[in-house]
Amino acid sequence: MHIISKAAIRPLVAVFALASVSTLAVQAQDAKKADPALANQLDPNAPEKDPKLIDKFAAVKVEDGKYQDGDGHPTFHITNDGKKFDWYAYSGYRRYHAECHVCHGPDAMGSTYAPALKDSLKTIGYEEFIGILAGGKRDSQAGQERVMPAFGDNKNVMCYADDLYVYLKARASGAMPRVRPTDKEEKPEAAKTAEKECLGG
Ligand code: HEC
Repeated sequence: MHIISKAAIRPLVAVFALASVSTLAVQAQDAKKADPALANQLDPNAPEKDPKLIDKFAAVKVEDGKYQDGDGHPTFHITNDGKKFDWYAYSGYRRYHAECHVCHGPDAMGSTYAPALKDSLKTIGYEEFIGILAGGKRDSQAGQERVMPAFGDNKNVMCYADDLYVYLKARASGAMPRVRPTDKEEKPEAAKTAEKECLGG
């Protein structure tokens, strides 16, 4: 496990924050309509699909294998009748089941200890998600303390924050049912470069 100092991670978190602020600025000018060429091809039989959220999270552009929704935030892209996933959704699935599932349950279904992130991500936006991931959260009501650890110092989590967010959005909208993704888009060059820089820095 790579641990880096708080001082080192702060610029990283700042970069996340800046990146989302600049995309928010772009959002005002950009057309927010989903691009039909980027339409998802979902499993017609998948249960629990939420058409409103699927529409909200629909990709309006793609850059080197990374999809963006109308709010300028990373999103998923699913094709081949729900069988093929973009790289980030696939990677997020794997990271989630390495770092989060012990508390939040398999497939983001929740547990007696921690909330079902498939529900949380219906309302939690990108900035809030990154903030909770980096800084943690604690609920000490009703006598029992429940703690969401702060992962700001953990590169195995923070370097894949977008991947986790994309995966959890796919789960929250029901676009990705409870499946183990097999087919996926190739790992983008940008993902390889960003990973190297993030893990090595
Ligand atoms: C040690 C157990 C534990 C682990 C591991 C863990 N969490 Fe949590 N998480 C919690 C608890 C408990 C809460 C609820 C805290 C509260 O209500 O204040 C929580 C809350 C959250 C929330 C806010 C949910 C909401 O509805 O308010 C998000 C988002 C979240 N976790 C994401 C993650 C992600 C992503 C990972 C993996 C990188 C992860 N967590 C790993 C225990 C954990």
